[in-house]
Amino acid sequence: ENIMKGEFEHFMKKEIHEQPESVVQTMMGRVVKDMEGAASRVFLGGMINFVSTIRRSRRIVLCGCGTSYNSAIAVRQLMEELTELPVTLELASDVLDRRCPFFRDDTCVFISQSGETADTLKAMQYAKDRGALCVGIVNTVGSAISRSTDCGVHINAGAEIGVASTKAYTCQIVAMVLLSLSLSEDSMSLHSRRKRIMSSLLELPNAIRKALLLDAQMRELAKELKDENSLLLLGRGYNYATALEGALKVKEVALLHSEGILAGEMKHGPLALVDEVLPLIIVATMDDSYKKQESAVQQLRARGGRLILIVSEEDDEIAKTAGDKATIVRVPTVEDCLQSVVNIVPLQLLSYHLTVLRGHNVDQPRNLAKSVTVE
Ligand code: G6P
Repeated sequence: ENIMKGEFEHFMKKEIHEQPESVVQTMMGRVVKDMEGAASRVFLGGMINFVSTIRRSRRIVLCGCGTSYNSAIAVRQLMEELTELPVTLELASDVLDRRCPFFRDDTCVFISQSGETADTLKAMQYAKDRGALCVGIVNTVGSAISRSTDCGVHINAGAEIGVASTKAYTCQIVAMVLLSLSLSEDSMSLHSRRKRIMSSLLELPNAIRKALLLDAQMRELAKELKDENSLLLLGRGYNYATALEGALKVKEVALLHSEGILAGEMKHGPLALVDEVLPLIIVATMDDSYKKQESAVQQLRARGGRLILIVSEEDDEIAKTAGDKATIVRVPTVEDCLQSVVNIVPLQLLSYHLTVLRGHNVDQPRNLAKSVTVE
């Protein structure tokens, strides 16, 4: 076990630091370059015969549990933009509870690191029984979900051992961005947007490497936050997923209550919790939601909120809006639809350090299992 951990004390830390390489593995052989070395198209071997069927489907349903479900939230907006199809989200356990209406002309995408999660597997069988096309986004080759879906994309993140999923999350997002690109290859109107996304994909490993340099700042922040009872994380648009996934990490490994909130819902309840004590982590990198996040920061500051902001490294404006007392975490910028991959990195590091400082088991959190094979 110690040999496998290499220089790292815990698998979670090792896996967080592997992300620049693991996203390369996800893209390996799939992002095709032209003669000048620019990314020109996406090739997904496992999807080749299914792209046109998916394009003709009535909608795409993304389905998973836990972190895998959060990765679906992160890519929904882009998948809708590129495929021009409605994309809906389903928690696997809820599909079964609700007996969700699935149809023959639906494409259902099942996302699972292990490929063995009972709820996801059963939801997949349920969708198959109703004639839907089933696509797998799976890490473990040969797993039940990988074997029984009609087609799919292996994320190739390498073995993930820490119970809290880290590199599988970012690789799932990358794999589904690739899927969205391959589903929109023939669109002329999306040509320049697709080009920008593909070249940003190639910059992603370096951006993650830079985000990993926030380790020391996150350790300091963890020292400040280690005795708190609760944390709120606010994000919107592409970074609603970042708020949810950051909160899930803090909750599951640091055993500290935390909640991820869609910032647009702030006024509809969570604002009542804001005081001088409760730490608020706001994801406010530069994208279409930026102005709205800036005004949320203003409102939270006016109520004396304790602000921690994740912002774009080139942005000087929002730090002023947040005031001198705010903690500012600066992350490198990539194309908006990939920013959630970079933004989660400081939150993974924060949850890691919180766990160590609070004296909890990093790789095997109390009561949790890596793969939940019972319903
Ligand atoms: C468990 C793990 C989570 C994981 C979820 C889904 O709850 O503790 O980290 O996100 O299962 O697992 P899967 O293997 O289907 O992605």
